[in-house]
Amino acid sequence: MEFLGSNILSIDQFNRKDIDLIFKTADSLFPFASRQKITRVLQGAILSNMFFEPSTRTRISFGSAFNMLGGEVRETTEIEATSLAKGESLYDTSRVLSGYSDVIVMRHPLAGSVAEFAEASRVPVINGGDGDNEHPSQALLDLFTIKKELESHNKEIDTARIALIGDLKFGRAAHSLCKILMLYANISIKLVSPDKLKLPDFLISEFEKKNISILETQDIKEGIADVDIIYMTRIQEERFDNVSEANKYKGLMSLNQKIYTKNCEPNTVIMHPLPRDSRKDANELDDDLNQNPNLAIYRQTDNGLLIRMALFCLILGVADKIESSASSVSWFSNKS
Ligand code: NCD
Repeated sequence: MEFLGSNILSIDQFNRKDIDLIFKTADSLFPFASRQKITRVLQGAILSNMFFEPSTRTRISFGSAFNMLGGEVRETTEIEATSLAKGESLYDTSRVLSGYSDVIVMRHPLAGSVAEFAEASRVPVINGGDGDNEHPSQALLDLFTIKKELESHNKEIDTARIALIGDLKFGRAAHSLCKILMLYANISIKLVSPDKLKLPDFLISEFEKKNISILETQDIKEGIADVDIIYMTRIQEERFDNVSEANKYKGLMSLNQKIYTKNCEPNTVIMHPLPRDSRKDANELDDDLNQNPNLAIYRQTDNGLLIRMALFCLILGVADKIESSASSVSWFSNKS
């Protein structure tokens, strides 16, 4: 794809060459994300970060990524704080905001709304999660993490064995991850979820069309055996008709150190898009895994910064100007 000036709305936009370019750019940004060097390559540029659903990582990491490239960030975090609450259309909000910004990141509870917003925008729009549909930057950082983790065990994505576990029906992170994994024909996938929270049929058919080996099960012990990567997800409570309906599924798929030791191959990597639901009745990823060196969840969130910096560099056309813009850091930073 042509990155310059493009929206990032869905994983459908990318081929493997595009992903390689994003990953190469992300790698080149490591000295900047780890504060060994600084750059002002986006000096003067403005990001509007519009998050109309709860978010910690995605919002802050998009904002920090932009700041680390020297740009400024404006934020709105509630529909009620915008004129959308007064009946303004996405079209009008988009036309107006794109006059004030050079790029917009948007998260919205309705599937398809970010694409609708992007249609009206005069600047590139990145989908920070639209309802239960997609979360493309999350899938990119997840795949980047899978690649790094596997490489550290002398393995590669092409032949990876991956278990996706939890709410595969409503989880947009899982949907985008499935789409990106489909670009690697020799992988094998286990889909582990309660029957009512199965991956949507259209994604299963896509796997089948591509002859990718999939196994569906409701048994977490079967799911986590003989895989390289475990990708846990949260029950997406906010997408159910009511909380009591969601509560029926909480705690059904729960991983702790004992279950891990008993069922997993050594060095099975544990991932999660986060937030993990640490309430007692859910607890899909127990705290007792925190000291497990194969728990990659914080390496995953760190990688999010690199991927988001890379996306900004590519769509704003500065990827080849980063090195020449670098200077050293004159203040204390304990990032390593
Ligand atoms: C995910 C999301 O919002 O889709 N979180 C995130 O952005 N890292 C996953 C989730 O909320 O469960």
